[in-house]
Amino acid sequence: MFTAALPTTNSSTLNWVPLDLFDAIRDLKRELNAVILAHYYQDPDIQDIADYIGDSLGLSRQAAETNADIIVFAGVHFMAETAKILNPDKLVLLPDLEAGCSLADSCPPDEFAKFKAAYPGHLVISYINCTAEIKAMSDIICTSSNAVQIVNQIPKDQPIIFAPDRNLGKYVIEQTGRDMVLWQGSCMVHETFSEKKMVQLKMQHPTAEAIAHPECEPAVLRHASYVGSTTALLKYVQQSASREFIVATEPGIIHQMQKVEPQKRFIPAPPINNCACNECPHMRLNTLEKLYLCMKNRTPEITLPPATQAAALKPIQRMLAMSRTVGS
Ligand code: 13P
Ligand code: SF4
Repeated sequence: MFTAALPTTNSSTLNWVPLDLFDAIRDLKRELNAVILAHYYQDPDIQDIADYIGDSLGLSRQAAETNADIIVFAGVHFMAETAKILNPDKLVLLPDLEAGCSLADSCPPDEFAKFKAAYPGHLVISYINCTAEIKAMSDIICTSSNAVQIVNQIPKDQPIIFAPDRNLGKYVIEQTGRDMVLWQGSCMVHETFSEKKMVQLKMQHPTAEAIAHPECEPAVLRHASYVGSTTALLKYVQQSASREFIVATEPGIIHQMQKVEPQKRFIPAPPINNCACNECPHMRLNTLEKLYLCMKNRTPEITLPPATQAAALKPIQRMLAMSRTVGS
């Protein structure tokens, strides 16, 4: 039982009682007709209580299709924003409003507007890991699971700006042979993996297969036998005959890998320093207690200026339409 002592009333006399948080969250879910959507990088206990766990594409699809009255987003700000853009009339809750994203922060809207103006006639394809303002300035949104497929659908003579992740951009250029103008943003977590340590680890585990997320730097991707989104990596470890994997992405995904393949071994790829910096500090701000409290108090909620919300919807809808056949 996962318990916590939490206040049961907002009045001046607080009653502190031990709660089984899993039971309390399940009760609130029923009461509120809420759905809990969680990313694979969330703490294992949050993954275990979620109605749906997925990558950014899967989560967007779930948000677009849900009949729930309230969406509780166990992920980071840009993900909850996407759910709100797709559901302007629903209450969208994020357990910790501070759960941001270094990649989204690496692309400030005013600077991106100047960048875009410097490349007239370019189509703007933006990775979903960006703010609603950047989405509103984009033509099409993509995720790590559909970026290659979306770029392949653009006529060859159409110049493209790809933002904000330079590593995913470079990977898409390599896979499609397209020349794209890249915004130079990156993810603090995926840039932390060390090529040298990855090679050392592969030597220590000669039968292990290295797999990686395309937000990693090209030097790390070079050593991976498979590159894909979190959902794609999860599927891959189930199909592969290998018994051991070196996993170069946020280690939250290993919880699901271990569940579906308990006999296989998953080794998190090592960061440059001996730190825990391969864990996303933003994703990990959400806790089971905060999840419970946000549902109980129906706050913090995601709100967006209506004009931004409306402008950001079109490129997200284009993405969903252009990637119907991509698995998630
Ligand atoms: P995916 O969910 O597309 O695998 O991306 C991972 C990520 O960095 C989410 O922030
Ligand atoms: Fe952002 Fe990187 Fe964390 Fe994903 S892992 S939410 S891209 S900082």
